[in-house]
Amino acid sequence: MKIIIINGPNLNLLGKRENDIYGDASFTEFYSRLQSKFQNIELFHFQSNIEGEIIDKLQEVGYAYDGVILNAAAYTHTSVAIGDTVKAIHTPVVEVHISNTFSREDFRHISFISPNAKGVILGFGLQSYELAIQSFLPQ
Ligand code: DQA
Repeated sequence: MKIIIINGPNLNLLGKRENDIYGDASFTEFYSRLQSKFQNIELFHFQSNIEGEIIDKLQEVGYAYDGVILNAAAYTHTSVAIGDTVKAIHTPVVEVHISNTFSREDFRHISFISPNAKGVILGFGLQSYELAIQSFLPQ
């Protein structure tokens, strides 16, 4: 099973960025723990601060992989283009957020991803990504 985690802008700063909201761990540390935990899955990770690069990656994997775990970060709330791509591709997309976006500013309550996502997991810190992986596993 091939699953990719796609992270959007500023998620490369995890561990250094607003630690009260996003925690102290870097994504690299967390990702190596995920890789050891889910050795039966081919897990990939891509991060970009650039909207078009996220779209290119979604198009590249979106007809070939079994699952996409997408944290589009701030683009979640602004990007019609990423929303359109999620709609266009065939690979199911699980939308993930580290923080509970509904307990934050109003502009974070809007998502252009959710209408076409398989599901949404948010508010569980980095564990949100792990729950998303589990959602792709046979029950
Ligand atoms: C985020 C929530 C977004 O509102 C924010 O812009 C981010 C991270 C999260 O994972 O909690 O950058 O997607």
